[in-house]
Amino acid sequence: MMADQVIHKGLEGVVVSTNALTYIDGHAGKLMYRGYLIGDLAEQSTYEEVVWLLLHGELPNQRELAALKAELVANRTIPEHLLTLLKLLPADTNAMAALRTAVSMLALSDLESEDNSEAANRRKALRLVAKMATVVAAFERIRNGKEPVLPRPDLSHAANFLYMLNGEVPKETMARVFDVCLILHADHEMNASTFAARVTASTLSDIYSAVTAAIGTLKGPLHGGANTKVMEMLLEIQDPDNAEHWIKEALANKQRIMGFGHRVYKTEDPRATVLRRLSRELGEKQDSTRWYKISRTVEQEVLAQKGLYPNVDFYSASTYYLMGIRTDLYTPIFALARIAGWVANLLEQYADNRLIRPDSEYIGPKERPYVPVNQRN
Ligand code: SDX
Repeated sequence: MMADQVIHKGLEGVVVSTNALTYIDGHAGKLMYRGYLIGDLAEQSTYEEVVWLLLHGELPNQRELAALKAELVANRTIPEHLLTLLKLLPADTNAMAALRTAVSMLALSDLESEDNSEAANRRKALRLVAKMATVVAAFERIRNGKEPVLPRPDLSHAANFLYMLNGEVPKETMARVFDVCLILHADHEMNASTFAARVTASTLSDIYSAVTAAIGTLKGPLHGGANTKVMEMLLEIQDPDNAEHWIKEALANKQRIMGFGHRVYKTEDPRATVLRRLSRELGEKQDSTRWYKISRTVEQEVLAQKGLYPNVDFYSASTYYLMGIRTDLYTPIFALARIAGWVANLLEQYADNRLIRPDSEYIGPKERPYVPVNQRN
């Protein structure tokens, strides 16, 4: 690339493709999946419906929904050798590294892993949606010295995950809170992990490789890894009375406050609006509003000092904490929700593909002659 061309660092503002899945208006704080507002979907839909919506473009009718549920149920179990692998992992294995490794391993037992036809990719997409939840739950049980819990066919995707995680059927209210969290995290246009997946698919590599790339990308604290960091911050603050001072100190030290700011949203992330309510309601139900109160003070302080709004990772942290979920599982949970958006994006990429290969401006040394090693200083 010739010098003096405009460089868009981080591809900020660069439109790399079209997508018919998700629309974001960052100034209005608007988010829609296939034309349905995220607030309406959170209130009235289920994760299974949203999976169908993202993959097929319409909300499912009752027959389609039943068929999707049956296919997810039929694909929830994971291979014995993967469970063996999870049991071999060191106890302090990073949860996202474990998920990344497990998804790679799932490819090895999928007879269609190298079949890039749309029909095979659609089958693999649902296998990944079904199995990633089982992987995360099994990983958590195994690292705590417990046997994995087999999935139950009679439970929804959200309820079954909590059942496999805790070994008991969750209360309907808790299952519904988790179902809404899955809906809120399902897709989000050209975020970094989706872009990573699309780049991988654009070489016509397989869907498992693309999802593995996405998991590795989501892991970072500037992206999906922020939710775990938010809870670590809330735990460090501990008391609502400490929150204002803690934030003032952090900002004075030029620290980034995890869960705030966004490349696209310049007002409140509409997902944070829903998650703030879930965090408050769970806290009130459990008579444990401390985390919500700390969050509210942090939110007010960051807005006042930096003009930044909470993103999806801020209130999801206290919501998951109040659900009794271990903090380092928050990002794997983000992944097991976002798999729906990743695979829907991958189907789009494969259907209308062009190798993704941007330019770069060279700023290294000018052309120069080679010097043999015995003539170098
Ligand atoms: C997700 O893309 C998606 O859609 C992602 C996601 C999805 O659903 O897939 O929405 C999920 O990843 C949400 C974001 C989670 N990450 C965090 O919460 C980490 C903290 N946030 C930031 O690091 C930051 O806001 C980003 C990475 C999210 C966005 O960064 P940008 O667009 O590159 O903005 P920037 O880093 O250039 O910041 C602009 C200014 C800077 O100030 P100056 O240096 O110009 O003075 O805002 C400041 C930043 O310092 N700033 C922050 C801040 N975020 C931005 N200051 C303190 N705390 C923060 N969190």
